[in-house]
Amino acid sequence: MRRIAFINEKGGTCKTTLCVNVAARLAARGRRVLVADLDTQGHAAKSLGVDPRGLAPTVHEWLLGEAPFAATVRPTAIPGLDLLPANKDLAGFPVAAAAVPGREGLLLRRLDELPEGTYDAVLVDSPPSRSLVTDNILAAVREVVVPVAVTYLALDGCAEILQSLERLRAERGAAPSLTLVVATLYRKTRLADEILAKLRGRLGTAVSQTVLGWSVQVDEAQSHGRTVFEWAPRSTGARALAAIADEIDRRHPAAMSDGERVAVGRL
Ligand SMILES: Nc1ncnc2c1ncn2[C@@H]1O[C@H](COP(=O)(O)OP(=O)(O)O)[C@@H](O)[C@H]1O
Ligand SMILES: [Mg+2]
Repeated sequence: MRRIAFINEKGGTCKTTLCVNVAARLAARGRRVLVADLDTQGHAAKSLGVDPRGLAPTVHEWLLGEAPFAATVRPTAIPGLDLLPANKDLAGFPVAAAAVPGREGLLLRRLDELPEGTYDAVLVDSPPSRSLVTDNILAAVREVVVPVAVTYLALDGCAEILQSLERLRAERGAAPSLTLVVATLYRKTRLADEILAKLRGRLGTAVSQTVLGWSVQVDEAQSHGRTVFEWAPRSTGARALAAIADEIDRRHPAAMSDGERVAVGRL
């Protein structure tokens, strides 16, 4: 089972948008996919048409071992796509887990408990700040996808994430690999093109071939609790998200050529 987190310590970089739409595309291609919402805002749940307010149990109880997976997971309107919802309860996680030995490894343990073959991929939607939750995510996933909004400060944010991965590798001897950096919220201006060129210059083939441009249909879809493939399947946003999902699908670590692996490993 692939374990992929969508991470960036900044808010509003399209983590949730990518997570749910990539999940939907992979499910449409026949993969069995679990979206684990690990943000107190519950946006992944909302984007998949599930109102997480007042819901119980959620990912919070599941992480703590207080609710079984079967009671926590919910089907979505999309065949092959399941959801572990989150809501404000997750804000209590650092305090609730304070006395738990190995509390950074709770997500890893829970995912390891899933029966082999239940899912082809689990896609984790991350919160925008560093916390015990993100420590759990980085300990549990094998791959990260980093959405970077094409703005003046984008390169800084991206550098921070790469440094975090390096630190983790130095501290623990292992860290998730960088599967893809996705440029998002792109609008054609000279500055945006300069930033994109710098991003590609620094990160090479780790940057997705397809850029997610600014698209009102993508925003509308999220506000209606639908993926863009349901809401506006012929929009440019839908085409871009499908292409990005396909890039992620192709970059399955086992399917990557030695050349590609080296390119990513050298970052
Ligand atoms: N391609 C896009 N064009 C326009 N708006 C977008 C696009 N992708 C995402 N959005 C909107 O931008 C906001 C932030 O996106 P989101 O995925 O929730 O970011 P994050 O999870 O990183 O905080 C949301 O309102 C979303 O609907
Ligand atoms: Mg989000």
